[in-house]
Amino acid sequence: MKAVTTFPLPDAAIALLSEVAAVAGPDGWQGELADADALLCLLTDRVDAALLARAPRLRVVANAVVGYEHVDREACAARGIVVTNTPDVLTEATADLAWALILATVRRLPQAERSLRAGEFHGWGFWDYLGGDLNGATLGIYGMGRIGRAVARRAGGFGMRVVYHSRTPLSAADEASLGAARVSFDELLAASDVLTLHAPATAETRHAFNGPALRRMKPGSYLVNTARGPLVDEAALADVLRDGPLAGAGLDVYEREPEIHPALLDLPNAVLLPHVGSATRDTRTRMAMLAARNAHAVLSGRPPLTPVPA
Ligand code: DGY
Repeated sequence: MKAVTTFPLPDAAIALLSEVAAVAGPDGWQGELADADALLCLLTDRVDAALLARAPRLRVVANAVVGYEHVDREACAARGIVVTNTPDVLTEATADLAWALILATVRRLPQAERSLRAGEFHGWGFWDYLGGDLNGATLGIYGMGRIGRAVARRAGGFGMRVVYHSRTPLSAADEASLGAARVSFDELLAASDVLTLHAPATAETRHAFNGPALRRMKPGSYLVNTARGPLVDEAALADVLRDGPLAGAGLDVYEREPEIHPALLDLPNAVLLPHVGSATRDTRTRMAMLAARNAHAVLSGRPPLTPVPA
């Protein structure tokens, strides 16, 4: 059997896969598909019907990321190909990054750092480099899955009240332990001082944060997106960052990665990161290992550890 990888794997993942298959790639992986039984891939690889047609033996698409909108699940299901992802192993790192971006945006850290490097720091100034407060403010969470809940858990440490909007409500016990209250989408927009996004990219969530929605946000509030770019209409976001009501936005993901909307690049109140939510050494290693375990399981005739819903 053959497992093809589109990205460099840790040695332990190669050793595991080698128990059941020859491992090919990442160099020239496209040319290895004809006799591939497993494909280990990333969100930057489009796994569509055209790719599947070139891989007639494929039994498993083992994504080494949690999002799977880049995989045509219907086409996989029609061929009986199992699709897996990497939930849980990146939850804490991504929640940490969301908080890093919240703090950087609300306290305007990149602007302050740029100013210092430009030689503009001439000593402590009472009214210099002022940002907003988190303590006592309301954190809004859009999407209360694993990462949304991990973000909510950290909010208590910052003294924030938490409201959330999610298709599926939390249990009363979870709401109580997180101190989170479920609200309508309109209430979320109106109540949040900081609104952080943790929903997947679906037809339903695409441009949920469009011009009209963004204009209903609280004056002086902040939007932070570490989930998926298409949730936000970037052109409309640039408008509300320029003319209000938003005070700032922190983005780790973009509508058309790696393109960044040029208007955002010009705005000092937009903090822009290059999709680094899960980018810690241990987390990325765990993601690669889980993808390898999923491929190994399917090639061994066992159920995958973390299949995505069909
Ligand atoms: C994912 O896993 O889907 C992230 O966006 C990368 O960590």
